[in-house]
Amino acid sequence: MTMPTPQCPWRMQVHHIHQETPDVWTLSLLCHDYYPYRAGQYALVSIANSATTLRAYTLSSTPGVSEYITLTVRRIAGGAGSQWLTGEVKRGDYLWLSDAQGHFTCDNEAQDKLLLLAAGCGVTPIMSMRRWLAKYRPAVDVQVIYNVRSPQEVIFADEWRDYAVTLVAEQSASAGFVSGRLSHALLSEVPDLAGRTVFCCGPAPYMAWAEEAVKQGGVTRFFKEQFFTPTTSVAAATEGLTFSKLSAGKTFFAPQGSSLLQALESNNVPIIAACREGVCGCCKTQVLAGEYHVSSTATLTQQEIDDGFVLACSCQPEGDMVLA
Ligand code: FES
Repeated sequence: MTMPTPQCPWRMQVHHIHQETPDVWTLSLLCHDYYPYRAGQYALVSIANSATTLRAYTLSSTPGVSEYITLTVRRIAGGAGSQWLTGEVKRGDYLWLSDAQGHFTCDNEAQDKLLLLAAGCGVTPIMSMRRWLAKYRPAVDVQVIYNVRSPQEVIFADEWRDYAVTLVAEQSASAGFVSGRLSHALLSEVPDLAGRTVFCCGPAPYMAWAEEAVKQGGVTRFFKEQFFTPTTSVAAATEGLTFSKLSAGKTFFAPQGSSLLQALESNNVPIIAACREGVCGCCKTQVLAGEYHVSSTATLTQQEIDDGFVLACSCQPEGDMVLA
């Protein structure tokens, strides 16, 4: 079986698949070679073993602790990657993964008090870190607050019984759950909040709220996973840069300082982004006019660069732009 793309050189075999919640599955993969990764990192997955469709998923397993490499995936309507992984892939199939990537990891964090905040599927890197801390830094004081919509949506439900965790459910909170969302009141119950390093993962609005709230509470060390597509819209911005996307027949605005990817996503212009770091090539976009600078051209040919193609995640507009 040949590697679909040099970006995904790691072949792994599906050992088993476990359904976590009504719409989330964990795929346990066997890698016959040593696969180096750190708790909290992610990998690109070649979807349907294709060279061009790559998606990024957190490695929900923990190095040195987990028996398998695991991916925990929420099935999203119309999501090419999640539909394939949760609907078509079966035991014994092979997947191709990239090297582990990302900087959202706690293994270089020397602090002795941590607060881990997770919402929904954002719990995947948080659980990876929680296991890692339990094994390699057992003396660290770790508090966890995990938000879900309803109790049946708790991912890794059995495993959380091994750890101290505050579970928060927006709806139908049953015994063992706090009703509602992450709040100032809940945060005020965290012992020595200001002295903690905070790791946070979840939808963008949740992370934005959490960051502001813990910083108000005196936290100075806050890390978040930037993996998720922003859902807050800045389309209403009337100052800043103007973008015309000819193929979409659309003109929109974005604040100065936005990357091209942020400008597109926050205006709901369809764009695929997996790594967000100029590595995978998913977000290739053609600029027909406008000034910009780029931090990565990986995966682009010289001809494409000459033709104005950029990686939107690594493109910083310097003025108004016209896009193909
Ligand atoms: S999202 Fe991977 S290169 Fe832009």
